[in-house]
Amino acid sequence: MFYVIGLGLGDPKDITVKGLEIVKRCERVYLESYTSIMTCGHEKLEEFYGRPLILADRELVESGADDILHNAHSVEVAFLVVGDPFGATTHTDLLIRAKEKNIPYQVIHNASIMNAIGCCGLQLYHFGETVSIPYWDANWQPDSFFDKIIANLEHGLHTLCLLDIRVKEPTLASLTSKKREYEPPRFMSCSTACDQLSQLIHKRRLSGEAKHHLFNDRNVVIGLARVGHESQEIKACTLKEMKQSDLGDPLHSLIIPAEMHPMEVEFLQQFCDEDLKELQKKARRDELTSIFKLETTLDSTSNSNN
Ligand SMILES: C[S@@+](CC[C@H](N)C(=O)[O-])C[C@H]1O[C@@H](n2cnc3c(N)ncnc32)[C@H](O)[C@@H]1O
Repeated sequence: MFYVIGLGLGDPKDITVKGLEIVKRCERVYLESYTSIMTCGHEKLEEFYGRPLILADRELVESGADDILHNAHSVEVAFLVVGDPFGATTHTDLLIRAKEKNIPYQVIHNASIMNAIGCCGLQLYHFGETVSIPYWDANWQPDSFFDKIIANLEHGLHTLCLLDIRVKEPTLASLTSKKREYEPPRFMSCSTACDQLSQLIHKRRLSGEAKHHLFNDRNVVIGLARVGHESQEIKACTLKEMKQSDLGDPLHSLIIPAEMHPMEVEFLQQFCDEDLKELQKKARRDELTSIFKLETTLDSTSNSNN
């Protein structure tokens, strides 16, 4: 039997009783270790489960699926996923492989960041498409997530932004050498995500795109760090302020709220140092001012062309 087991988000004890019983009796237990991490570290998991774990990086999962599934017809093998196995990154490819090989499988669910974000007070059914914000470098600055945030805002829907994780990335120099060396692991913070968003807002403003006025530096954003762990932190402030904020150790997620229901505002207020309603009003004023400025510019351009 092949088991895919969700571990939950915060600490070793978040595994379900059912999951723990299976982990204890399996012949091999893999821990998926490239799409998410447990704040406590894998050693604490091994200690609590009372057994060693095999760390499964991207290479092993994507190219070594046969090794993971090896002899799972006759023995029990578990594959552990932080959060829920179907939350954000899904491991359906592994399950398809198991099915092709006639290996029976079972999924044990758990809490995911996709639902735990409800802890900030925003209603899950007011969320639109989730986006991922990747790290930029000098040559690669993808921005398709920005259009999805705007589309969500246009529909009055909040956006959950999952932030990039880079683990076991080969160094540029080692790509051409025989010996692979790896960059130190990196986990994007809310501050970096807001810095990239702010750069995009200004780039779009310069290019004269009107839609971006829904989203500016004064918009309220919500940063969530280490959700489910005792050190969990939630902060609601403007995008501009979030750029300067340090929410501490990973993992971080960011929410761009659309228009909020009064109940959502009331709950969220406990995570904000200023009056949230005032912040929202200021953001709305900025939006109207920039639309007005844009229209004036467009008018004067068309007048001078006539
Ligand atoms: C690809 S998703 C993996 C989701 C996981 N399978 C789940 O169900 O929660 C990983 C991203 O989710 C967010 N995330 C996961 N756990 C988190 C936590 N405890 N606190 C804040 N953000 C978290 C981070 O942005 C992280 O980069």
